[in-house]
Amino acid sequence: MMTLTNQYPSLNGKTVFISGGGSGIGASLVESFAQQGAKVAFVDVQEEVSASLVDRLNSDDGNGEVRFYPCDLTDIERLQSVIAQAAEELGPISVLINNAANDTRHDFRDVTPEQWDKCLAVNMRHHFFSAQAVYPYMKKLGGGAIINLGSMSWHAGQGGMPGYTSSKASIEGLTRGLARDMGPDRIRVNCLVPGWVMTEKQLNERVDAAAREAIDKGQSVKDPLMPESISAMALFLASDDASMCTSQNFIVDGGWI
Ligand SMILES: NC(=O)c1ccc[n+]([C@@H]2O[C@H](COP(=O)([O-])OP(=O)(O)OC[C@H]3O[C@@H](n4cnc5c(N)ncnc54)[C@H](O)[C@@H]3O)[C@@H](O)[C@H]2O)c1
Repeated sequence: MMTLTNQYPSLNGKTVFISGGGSGIGASLVESFAQQGAKVAFVDVQEEVSASLVDRLNSDDGNGEVRFYPCDLTDIERLQSVIAQAAEELGPISVLINNAANDTRHDFRDVTPEQWDKCLAVNMRHHFFSAQAVYPYMKKLGGGAIINLGSMSWHAGQGGMPGYTSSKASIEGLTRGLARDMGPDRIRVNCLVPGWVMTEKQLNERVDAAAREAIDKGQSVKDPLMPESISAMALFLASDDASMCTSQNFIVDGGWI
């Protein structure tokens, strides 16, 4: 695992809310913010892996506090109540990372209206409602940072998952609209756009010899793109050092798109 070395004093003691923090890039985000001394609340549907992540991180004295709240993000009422609970328990939320998604492949010929709505609910709808729910806390604090996870997939013209790519494209529009609406309250909204990240899930389910060849051809820098490289950008964007960065895409893809 790549080790991140930068410390951002402005993140120490901050309350950070992360969706989908139980595994993949989300787990790296949870760990990276905890290592900055932040208080991290995260939600996920995977209860076992999430609980063991909490145990591991909270047993390390150098970390801030980490708490897991079970939540299916397609249930917006539950999401809203979990955000309120996290703010009550850890303090007003000053950083939101909308990370959870599901890139399950689907053939455009077969998708029903119900499946389409479900796909957008998993990949897009909660980004808006999380941002809406954290807004009062950030406004009261005099500022905050919202980071939405996009994807290079649709930039690269990838097919085979139109609900996912539509969601990810719309997240860039949402980012720019909210950045304009929330900017006067010093709340910054950015989109972090990952390339093909070698999470356990991607390695187990998708990365075969052909995929490795595509990565080698696509990326300018040929090294495997690891979750920590995404977290490194998230730490910067969440910190006060990024105080004039808003309404933008920050692409971390090894130079692919
Ligand atoms: N891995 C990549 O190559 C890659 C590339 C481009 C963009 N991204 C984006 O980065 C983010 C993280 O990707 P990842 O690869 O770590 O994803 P992942 O599928 O490995 O992990 C997503 C996490 O979200 C959780 N989750 C899924 N649906 C949920 C729901 N309804 N409610 C609560 N939690 C839920 C999962 O349990 C999991 O812990 C996503 O937004 C993804 O679109 C990833």
